Amino acid sequence: MTTWEELEQMCLNCRGCRLCETRNNVVIGVGNKNADIMFVGEGPGYHEDMQGEPFVGAAGQLLDKMLAAVGLDRSIVYIANVVKCRPPNNRNPEQDEQDACINYLRRQYLLIRPKIIVCLGKIAASALIEQNFPITRDHGVWYSKKDCEFIATFHPSALLRDESKKRIAWEDLKKIKQKYDELKSEDNK
Ligand code: URA
Repeated sequence: MTTWEELEQMCLNCRGCRLCETRNNVVIGVGNKNADIMFVGEGPGYHEDMQGEPFVGAAGQLLDKMLAAVGLDRSIVYIANVVKCRPPNNRNPEQDEQDACINYLRRQYLLIRPKIIVCLGKIAASALIEQNFPITRDHGVWYSKKDCEFIATFHPSALLRDESKKRIAWEDLKKIKQKYDELKSEDNK
């Protein structure tokens, strides 16, 4: 199996799609490499590309606030994206860019082996749960796959654009924390 060091080198040297031509940094992931819960966004934006860390811009600050409110933070969770290089002008990552990058996320999953994966937004949910995922309808629904529980909620950028979604996302996050606590307590039995 690939080690973290090998995976990081593969990502840093990657020229698997056109996004390598415009990136400043490869944004691999951040947080606890033994996390029981992993959050996955779509791809780095401007600030993430400049700093090499996921979710550090406005959407990231909102994500941090919401995580802190349920007692989770970057030292407990792991945060990554479907694509590791910034799509120019923050456009959605194209399917071929996602296809070129998804194996890095799979390898991260295999190294971390989280019990829960939270997809932030439609792009991540479509890549990880099912194609063309209807996020407005099916956010907050659990999907069991192998040894991992998947769930999608709105992307924090969508919450910044539409405040009315915040309450719904907050309900999703409370549900996610409840499942996290349940799985942790099963571990301790
Ligand atoms: N949006 C994402 O999907 N990921 C980030 O890392 C930042 C913003």
